[in-house]
Amino acid sequence: MKKLVVGNWKMNPSTLDEAKRITKKIQQASQVLVNTEVVLCPPSVFISSCVPKKSVPNFNIGAQSVFFEEEGSYTGEISANMLKDIGVTHIISGHSEERARGDTDEIVSKKVKAILDVGVIPIVCVGEILRDNEDGSHFDFLKNQIKNTFANIPKKYAKEIVLAYEPVWAIGAKEAMVPEQVYEMVLFVKKEFADLFGNDLALKTTVLYGGSVNFRNASDIMKVGQADGLLVGRESINTAGFEELLKEVDKNI
Ligand code: PGA
Repeated sequence: MKKLVVGNWKMNPSTLDEAKRITKKIQQASQVLVNTEVVLCPPSVFISSCVPKKSVPNFNIGAQSVFFEEEGSYTGEISANMLKDIGVTHIISGHSEERARGDTDEIVSKKVKAILDVGVIPIVCVGEILRDNEDGSHFDFLKNQIKNTFANIPKKYAKEIVLAYEPVWAIGAKEAMVPEQVYEMVLFVKKEFADLFGNDLALKTTVLYGGSVNFRNASDIMKVGQADGLLVGRESINTAGFEELLKEVDKNI
């Protein structure tokens, strides 16, 4: 299975020209990859300009967010089908920055279902807000979050889901989680997913790590942490750093 690197640009960059420039560079870098696929998630207003006119090897465009209704009077919102229609293949949901603005597990679950209903791949973020290694409460937190998010998802859909384990305390931080802990947590997430959907499926499920990933730590997170890929924030709009990161991941099968 190829590794997956997702670039979450968040509310960056501030101009369309810059968005196009970064996209072009990353398209070029993606074409030469052997073991890795790339999904860039620009702000929604830039998506149409970033979707390649002809398909580019190992390169796709995703969205950062979606609303769960199909259509109707929902000012400001965008549906999964609208995103699919303009060429989006993946949609992030449950990102901690959206959860912090009010998305509960129930809302995330509805969004995941809406994404799956239109045949797009959801990248579902889970992760503890705080971590106390002594009391281990992060395991309970994660267990509940995974159960609440996926309990209502039909099993036939589960194989399409990409999970992104993102410990909230490591997002936008100075340092990523240490790779040994990433390893433990990736296994834990797969185990919880297995409890819902069975071992075979969980073993095949892509689990990304996200939180302060850069070109320097990417290799160890992949190798020692045994993640199936990465969800990258800040480093994904730093073109040179992101290109380097892609090379590092591609070397690491
Ligand atoms: P970061 O963001 O890489 O800037 O920490 C990761 C994320 O929010 O997905």
